[in-house]
Amino acid sequence: MRFDTLAVHAGHVIDPTTGSVAPPLHLSTTFARDPAGVPFGGHTYIRESNPTQAQLEAALAPLEGGEAALVFASGMAAGIALLQTLPPGSHVLLPDDVYYGFRIAGEDLLPNWGIRAEGVAMDDLAGVAAAIRPETRLLWIETPSNPLLKVVDVAALARLAREAGALSVLDNTFATPALQQPIALGADVVLHSTTKYFGGHSDVQGGALIFARRDALVERLGHLREITGGVASPFNSWLVLRGLRTLACRMAVQSANALAVARALAEHPAVARVHYPGLASHPGHDVAARQMAGGFGAMISLQTKEGKEAALRAVSRARLFIRATSLGGVESLIEHRATSEGPQSRTPEDLIRLSIGLEHPEDLIADLEQALSA
Ligand SMILES: Cc1ncc(COP(=O)(O)O)c(C=O)c1O
Repeated sequence: MRFDTLAVHAGHVIDPTTGSVAPPLHLSTTFARDPAGVPFGGHTYIRESNPTQAQLEAALAPLEGGEAALVFASGMAAGIALLQTLPPGSHVLLPDDVYYGFRIAGEDLLPNWGIRAEGVAMDDLAGVAAAIRPETRLLWIETPSNPLLKVVDVAALARLAREAGALSVLDNTFATPALQQPIALGADVVLHSTTKYFGGHSDVQGGALIFARRDALVERLGHLREITGGVASPFNSWLVLRGLRTLACRMAVQSANALAVARALAEHPAVARVHYPGLASHPGHDVAARQMAGGFGAMISLQTKEGKEAALRAVSRARLFIRATSLGGVESLIEHRATSEGPQSRTPEDLIRLSIGLEHPEDLIADLEQALSA
C-alpha cells in the first residue's frame, strides 16, 4: 500500500460495538475484570495501556515501517525514555545540531546518570567513525536538523552504528515518514515529536518511538513508561490519530510551499543564507534527494546580512507569519531562534526559523519581503 493510503487507514478499525467510523475516545482510567480476574479488553489501568493510545500505536508502526510503536506525553519524554534504557558508563553520540532540548539533556541530565554525550558533525562520516568508543551505545541522527536544516547520510550512519554494536535512533520530526523512511534506510528506532506534523494543528503535545523490531528494547521501554508515567493521554492520542489521516497531503503542500518560499528568500538582497535542503545550493541537497521522497519538508532557516538586529526587526514586522515557536501546524510561524532557545542557545544570532504552513506561498513570500525590506 502506498503511504497516502496507509496514512488514512493504518490501525483503523470500525468500532465493533457501535459501527463508528471515527475512532472512539476512551477516557476511562481503569478497566473491568471478569469474575476470574481477567481484564475484559486487555487493559487494566490507564498508565499501563489504554485503547486509544493502543490504536495510535497500531497506526504509527506501519507508517514508519516498524514492528512496534510506543507513544509518550511529549517528544522529549520519548527521547529521554530511550536514553534512560542505557546503562551507566554508556557513551552517546549526538549530532552537533541536535534539537536544543536533547543537547541540554546531554549536558545537564545524562552526566548524573553516568552517561557521556558527545556532539559530532554527522556529515563527516570519518569523524563519526573516529568518535565511536567501545562504550558507545547510541548514535543519534537528526536529518533535516533543527534549526540549521543539516542533512546527513542515514544509511551510512546506521551502518556505522550497527558495526559498532550501537543502536541508531533518528529524530524524524521534521521530515515525517511521508517524506523519509528511516527504518528502510537502516535505523533501529525512529523518534517523533507528534506535537508537530503528526498532530498538524498546533493543538496537541505528544511523542513516539517506532521500532524496526519488536524485541526486548520495546518491552523495556514499555515497562519504563508504565513506571515513570510519561504516557500519552487518551485525548492527545486521539488528536494525533486524527492528524495522521491528513499527514500525506499536508506534507506535500507544505513542502511545495516551503520550496517556493526558500527560492524567493535565496534571491532577497537582505538574506545572507537560506538553509533548505530542497535548494540545489544546500550542501546536503544530493543526500536529501536520495533519501527523501515527495518533498524536502516545510522548515526553513535564514540568516540576515545585517546580523541580529535585522533578524529581530524582520520577525517583529511579520504580519501573516505568526511570531511563535514550534512547527508543523497549518499556520506559518516565524521566530528568532536564539531568543526561543534562551541563554544556552548556540544558534547564530542572525538566524530566523520559519515553519511553513498551508497558506498560499505568494502571500507568505509577500509577507517575508515586506518584513525583510525594512
Ligand atoms: C526535532 C525535534 N525533536 C524533538 C522535539 C521535542 O518535542 P516535544 O516538544 O514534543 O517534547 C522537538 C520540539 O521542538 C523538535 O523540534
